[in-house]
Amino acid sequence: MILVTGATGTIGGHVVRLLTERGMPFRAMSRRERAGGVRAGGVRADFDDPASLARAVAGVDTVFLVTVPPVPTADHDIALVAAARAAGVRKIVKLSAIGSGERFDGETVGAWHLAAEEAIEDSGLAWTMLRPPGFASNFLWHRPLIQAGEPLPNLTGDSRQAIVDPRDVAAVAVAAMTGDAHDGQRYDLTGPELLTFADQAAILEGVLERPVKIADTDALDHLPDGMRIGIGWARSGGAAYVTHHVPQVLGRPAGTFEQWARDHREAFTALP
Ligand SMILES: NC(=O)c1ccc[n+]([C@@H]2O[C@H](COP(=O)([O-])OP(=O)(O)OC[C@H]3O[C@@H](n4cnc5c(N)ncnc54)[C@H](OP(=O)(O)O)[C@@H]3O)[C@@H](O)[C@H]2O)c1
Repeated sequence: MILVTGATGTIGGHVVRLLTERGMPFRAMSRRERAGGVRAGGVRADFDDPASLARAVAGVDTVFLVTVPPVPTADHDIALVAAARAAGVRKIVKLSAIGSGERFDGETVGAWHLAAEEAIEDSGLAWTMLRPPGFASNFLWHRPLIQAGEPLPNLTGDSRQAIVDPRDVAAVAVAAMTGDAHDGQRYDLTGPELLTFADQAAILEGVLERPVKIADTDALDHLPDGMRIGIGWARSGGAAYVTHHVPQVLGRPAGTFEQWARDHREAFTALP
């Protein structure tokens, strides 16, 4: 039995779809009773409610762990690790982030992801850490701006990163959860090509056949610490590398940003 946390979110949603396609037994976790995409057999639980976590992990072999704390802290991961150990869970596959633990401007990038990874490593459970850069799907956040013809804020300047298709992240997660070949591995799950934000906007513009404008901004101070440090690090070029982890695990090339954009064209054009 696999517990999928973050099951109503971007990566967890794709994991749910893949496990369903493969007929694998899983339990989808959400804080909401009837969350969209979570089928009957899901479990209602909250990282802030230990009793609900104990119910969620009962009888579970492997956990896909996605946390999005409102403030940067490993508390949600640590709560899940405690519940998992008590319930005899065997393995945790954690969605982390590229660069976690790097130093930038006197601060630690992804400090809370790093602390969570360390808690998992110290737990004695088997683990795989997935560390993607920015998801292609982040552009869906900008649909209202694109529709209004307004510029998208470019927080990363001219720096490049290998933006990844979230479907690839989910596929690697499923591979890691359904075999032991990836136990003890820490994968930087990049896409196949380095792109600036302007490159990404230009690709999207070509696919949508409508203008996708951008406006540079270096106003990062309003962002929560975890994002501010991570974006600053990416902006300085820290995330400008491509790895072979996605093709290695999946046995095929990583998806391009252009393919992701083509596959999601309707999500942009179906705007009111
Ligand atoms: N976006 C990027 O470019 C990027 C890049 C690298 C790494 N990451 C990492 O990826 C993770 C986010 O993944 P995602 O984008 O797939 O997530 P997401 O779409 O933001 O979804 C978050 C999920 O967390 C659940 N959730 C939130 N608070 C919860 C709580 N207190 N208890 C239980 N569940 C809770 C929500 O479920 P309900 O609302 O249904 O309860 C939802 O399914 C973060 O750790 C981030 O650092 C993101």
